[in-house]
Amino acid sequence: MWFISVSGRMCVAGLWCLLVLVVTTAAATNLRPPNVLVMLADDLGIGDLSCYGNTTIKTPNLDRLALGGVKLTHHLAAAPLCTPSRAALLTARYPARYGLVGNESTWSIVITNVANRAALPLDEVTLATALSAANYTTAIVGKWHLGSHCSFLGRRCPGPLKYGFQSFFGIPTTLSIDCRGPHAFWIFSLSDPQCQMLAGSWLAVVASVVVVARMLGWRWRTMVLLLLLSNFLTFVVWFKIIHLSKTSFRLTRVSPWLYRLLNSLLVRDGEVVEQPIRLDGLSQRLVQESRHFLAQHAADHQPFFLFHSFAHVHTPMFSAPHMEGVSKHGRYGDNVEELDEGVGSLLEALREHNLEENTIVYFTSDNGAHLEALDHEGQRIGGHNGRFKGGKLQGGPDGGIRVPGIYRWAGHLPENVTVDTPTSLMDLMPTLLDLADLPPLHRLVPQAAHKELDGVSIARLLTGDTPDLPTDQETRVMLHHCRQVIHAVRLTRGQHIYKMYLKKQQWFPGSTQCGWGALTGCDCARNIDDLSHQPELYDLTRDPYEDHSPISPDTDEYQDVVGFLQQYVREWSAKVTYPPSLLNNGSLAAWLPWRQPVCLTC
Ligand SMILES: *[C@@H]1O[C@H](CO)[C@@H](O)[C@H](O)[C@H]1NC(C)=O
Ligand SMILES: *[C@@H]1O[C@H](CO)[C@@H](O)[C@H](O)[C@H]1NC(C)=O
Repeated sequence: MWFISVSGRMCVAGLWCLLVLVVTTAAATNLRPPNVLVMLADDLGIGDLSCYGNTTIKTPNLDRLALGGVKLTHHLAAAPLCTPSRAALLTARYPARYGLVGNESTWSIVITNVANRAALPLDEVTLATALSAANYTTAIVGKWHLGSHCSFLGRRCPGPLKYGFQSFFGIPTTLSIDCRGPHAFWIFSLSDPQCQMLAGSWLAVVASVVVVARMLGWRWRTMVLLLLLSNFLTFVVWFKIIHLSKTSFRLTRVSPWLYRLLNSLLVRDGEVVEQPIRLDGLSQRLVQESRHFLAQHAADHQPFFLFHSFAHVHTPMFSAPHMEGVSKHGRYGDNVEELDEGVGSLLEALREHNLEENTIVYFTSDNGAHLEALDHEGQRIGGHNGRFKGGKLQGGPDGGIRVPGIYRWAGHLPENVTVDTPTSLMDLMPTLLDLADLPPLHRLVPQAAHKELDGVSIARLLTGDTPDLPTDQETRVMLHHCRQVIHAVRLTRGQHIYKMYLKKQQWFPGSTQCGWGALTGCDCARNIDDLSHQPELYDLTRDPYEDHSPISPDTDEYQDVVGFLQQYVREWSAKVTYPPSLLNNGSLAAWLPWRQPVCLTC
């Protein structure tokens, strides 16, 4: 045994070497930038979590996360629905700047099919691109919804791999209530006038073909051919006029049957691995995947960025058997509690691998709760936005855009602290680069040099190095778009937070939503009151839930604030041109059969 035979001096030298080694490794681990775990919920309302005041739902893991970090109470999404809000989260830029948002006139407001060309423009720089450039190992697990880029015959659908993510396991577009099948294909009822007409015409055509053929003495082959042709045409007419228009909703223009067939799929690194998705246990499978990633990279020399994008709590509702009926709020509540369980499992993995002190954790939701959502049995399956008015698909009211937001970095950010200053989901990238002490974006990714960011670093707000509300000289303006149109503008100035409405959606009487139904929601385009001649102004510091009448236009305060914000919007519009909506570009948004992935081995 060598250490017995070495001389005393060598032993001392050996110890010294060991010490140096320990010290340098410690220094190296300190120099190594922190890992990043971003957890994004889908359609979760700010009123759905107990750490945000819900007294009847159980979200112990998110509560613990908040206790161990900084809870943002005024955290705002850049859009009231998935695709544009997620794009903004990852790029730190308003989606209207690059057209990944619907326009005022047409129906398409999110990416609707796997097989189309609508996507986040490839020259946009995402958080994953930035962290990749900083030598992070990057991965996304779960919902993507920013463009699939499927190749011919859907052989590969790289999606997020084109935007700086090195691996992807998840859902390329979105879950939709139609993913829960099976759905009827044959829709034909003789009591329906359209069906009667179709059946009548079919009979008439068949009879005429037979009669004419007999009269003119056609060969039977010609007759059979004509009959086949007329049957085929009848099928096409039935499919378009009856199957599609009786079952499709305006968002996707495909029937539930088609939707489930075409768009409900799971992809791993560009290859389709499941079609349609088995929903039961999906949350657990996604969480397992992320846990596996954490285990695999816990001891890496390089830091990692894991983006866990939950399928919950978007419709349809589904949960593993052990989570069924656990909550006091039906299937929706079960889904929230299952989401929380998933969060707990990921946080547990960080603890197990001793990653808590070198991992920045961030949790948020892409937009507010979908108030109108009902399932097929009429059960409410949308969430709760606390006392804030409105919800998903409404640009100005806080219910659609004010979401939970929690940052935790054990040992670096304070614990159990609440920040009430308005912040944005778009602040994520600048904040992470700042906290991790990485170079600014344009230095990391030269392509970003001419990209103006709308998010700012809130690192000092999180660490507590700046007071909670800015001083009188400091202002921050946030624009609240509904589709491409600015519906409201928020100003943080000194001790005040103002919101000016330029447009407002008309609500269903007695509510702050737009009716009821599985696929119902406000639409930012119809039933809008234009207030731009005399905007409404609220002071959210005095009236946080907009319960009282807006500030009177006769006051100096109104003149001052509205004058300032109108000038801001004028300058903004002169400075920033919005390209046409990519989602309403027929050739980009249309379903392209030759790009449709079909999993033959699933
Ligand atoms: C990434 O790694 C390369 C090669 O090791 C190095 O030159 C570069 O400085 C690293 N980048 C950052 C931001 O650490
Ligand atoms: C808690 O959340 C559930 C589910 O969204 C909701 O139905 C309920 O009204 C909320 N309760 C409270 C007290 O906020």
